[in-house]
Amino acid sequence: MTTTITVIRGDGIGPEIMDATLHVLDSMNLGLQYEFADAGMVALEKHGELLPAATMDSIRKNRIALKSPLTTPVGEGFSSINVELRKRFDLYANVRPAKSFPNTKSRFPSGVDLITVRENTEGAYIGEGQQLSEDGETAVLTQKVTRRGSERIVRYAFELARKTGRRKVTVVHKANILKSTSGLFLKTARAVAAEYPDIQCNEMIVDNTCMQLVMKPEQFDIIVTTNLFGDIISDLCAGLVGGLGLAPGANIGTDAAIFEAVHGSAPDIAGKGIANPCALLLGAAQMLDHLGMSEKAERLRAAIIATLEAKDTLTPDLGGEGTTMSFAKAIASRL
Ligand code: NAI
Ligand code: MG
Repeated sequence: MTTTITVIRGDGIGPEIMDATLHVLDSMNLGLQYEFADAGMVALEKHGELLPAATMDSIRKNRIALKSPLTTPVGEGFSSINVELRKRFDLYANVRPAKSFPNTKSRFPSGVDLITVRENTEGAYIGEGQQLSEDGETAVLTQKVTRRGSERIVRYAFELARKTGRRKVTVVHKANILKSTSGLFLKTARAVAAEYPDIQCNEMIVDNTCMQLVMKPEQFDIIVTTNLFGDIISDLCAGLVGGLGLAPGANIGTDAAIFEAVHGSAPDIAGKGIANPCALLLGAAQMLDHLGMSEKAERLRAAIIATLEAKDTLTPDLGGEGTTMSFAKAIASRL
């Protein structure tokens, strides 16, 4: 059986890490077929828009996309393409695993294995309420949190815990200060948690969470939180385990899912062939899990770990002298 996925090669280092990722996937006989679609600067240059209708149609049809980072031009009135994709496909769950890997210069070469589940469609990121007064002296932002939005993300986190055999969900909030928005999120989370007596649920205020993550990250299993907190916490978690080159993310909705690296298009190293392909490869592993190919996903992760362990042609961000493609080939050779 073949499955067609939409592939977006993206901007900056995007094409380099995507070619490397597809090289690895091709070595696995997964029965995947790629439908290439443009988005970002490359689409703006070719088609005059950042997010062409053909790309939207492709994702809508295939329901699965593997996406490299996209550059959104700053200060030219364009809204973020990533936020736009999440909005248009209602990709409400942003799922970001952070796991210790060997030989990464990380402060936690072992012991960290957590997943941040970030609400992806509400809160401070939606921009409806962004206002700057005419004199430029006052800025206002409205945050909207709904019971429905909170319920579905918390439920997603608990279901993920059950599916992956995890034991604990930490609800991260700031309900002591943000009484309305964070308060509604927390109240809703408590109600959902009551339906999952088999999973331990605890609550933690976001600032304390940041300190706890840095001091004792091994205490966390699944974290569920609102959009802005989740954005910040998941980058913090990426930093705990070796940086952005190893941090994948999935954007999951009911009708579509987009898998990616957490990092951006890295214009400072684009075109040099030295970007670390692991974040996108780990995003591809999440995609395989989503497609019901968990055994293949585990094999891919194991090959990445084995390559890191052997220090086989690692990219410069990991202290090696390899290239994007030599690293990918070393991973593929272990599959
Ligand atoms: P960035 O993540 O592109 O780069 C930050 C730093 O990390 C740079 O020094 C870069 O060289 C390094 N880095 C990132 N990925 C790497 C990799 N795979 N291997 C080795 N080093 C890596 O963040 P920045 O510079 O803030 O943003 C650049 C552009 O990316 C912006 O236009 C931004 O809008 C876009 N962006 C896109 C995202 C997406 O499409 N999901 C997410 C974040 C940013
Ligand atoms: Mg971010």
